[in-house]
Amino acid sequence: MTYLDLDFVRPKFPALATDWALFDNAGGSVPLGGVIDRIHDYMSTCMVQVDGSYPQSLEATARIQAGHRAAEQLFGAGENEVALGSSSTVLMRTVSSALRPLWNDGDEVIVTDLDHETNIGPWRNLEATGITLREWRFNEETMRLELEDLEPLLNERTRLVAFTHCSNIVGQMRDDARRIVDRVHAAGALVAMDGVAYTPHARADVKALDVDLYVASIYKVFGPHISALYGRHELLARAASQNHFFIGDDEVPYKLEPGNVTHELAASLPAVIEYLEDLDRHHGGAGTIEGAYERIGAHETEIVRPLLTFLHEHPRAKIIGSPVAATGTRAPTVAFTVDGMKASEIPARLDERKVAVRWGHFYAHRLITRLGLHDQDGVVRASMAHYNSPEEVHRLVNELDAVL
Ligand SMILES: Cc1ncc(COP(=O)(O)O)c(C=O)c1O
Repeated sequence: MTYLDLDFVRPKFPALATDWALFDNAGGSVPLGGVIDRIHDYMSTCMVQVDGSYPQSLEATARIQAGHRAAEQLFGAGENEVALGSSSTVLMRTVSSALRPLWNDGDEVIVTDLDHETNIGPWRNLEATGITLREWRFNEETMRLELEDLEPLLNERTRLVAFTHCSNIVGQMRDDARRIVDRVHAAGALVAMDGVAYTPHARADVKALDVDLYVASIYKVFGPHISALYGRHELLARAASQNHFFIGDDEVPYKLEPGNVTHELAASLPAVIEYLEDLDRHHGGAGTIEGAYERIGAHETEIVRPLLTFLHEHPRAKIIGSPVAATGTRAPTVAFTVDGMKASEIPARLDERKVAVRWGHFYAHRLITRLGLHDQDGVVRASMAHYNSPEEVHRLVNELDAVL
């Protein structure tokens, strides 16, 4: 059974017209044709300086604003609560610097050893400025960050806890994120959540999560290479401007977009929202982002199952994370190791069969260190997007069977 009409989905992505089966989607999804068209159209018709009074400039300004509105919609955020930037890493660095003046020396920030470095490094850097760092370590048996391990780290000096909504290695989606947010808020601290590995697969509703900061990379959500940072408006309003001295603290989100956003990429973002709405409508829904993500989640759970089963039953393979396909808790991002083989050996063998996967630490460097996997070149990761078909996964499993 498939929950998505792939005859509708796949032609929307020009790069899928290939005989390669692409399973490196957690690294980056292929872009929508609608995104490409909008970039082309912006550059062809109105790529002039913004904020002028002449028509082309008015049009450019309006399209970039529409890009911001689209990013807000993706998160369910309010107006002017989303800053755009070249990457989630840059946005986290920017916002961490912007928040630092709100805190005193000796205040504390908690980071994990499970996250991608994007949501660790920028906060760790504050240590050099007088902030005390604490580490919320994952439980090696469950491969989860357990709330009970966070408890002893929280105290009256805690200002922020940074953790991931979904690990880009373990693939665990935190369906209990709201509980963690509530606990951290009760301790009087803020939450910064990395939603980069979550947003390609499920709806991130920042208001329902009640999170303070949330980041996503749109180039993994079928868009161009640009990222988006949600920040609760009253928090962003208090944060220090990271832009030129004459861009005041009241200029939210521009004060967090130094040097401005990449105009043509920002202008393309409405195409992502339009696609999600069309996807839902095409499948009989009301044309909502939530509806689209429900279908995406159901489809992905179906297609990832054969891979998880194959790896789980293989005598030499070990999945990092749960072997059970489950919508809302297990992303179709499957990392594994194979006894007697380096991770780097496997992708090259699959390349010969036109199946694309990748190996490495995927910038979750501390996680791979804890697991002692650097010597074997980290993990192999096969990561799916909703446009992958059951046939492609079948091919992946068959080819892996031949290679392992
Ligand atoms: C979970 C996670 N967070 C952050 C990032 C980095 O995002 P960006 O390239 O936008 O800085 C990635 C990219 O792989 C990721 O998977």
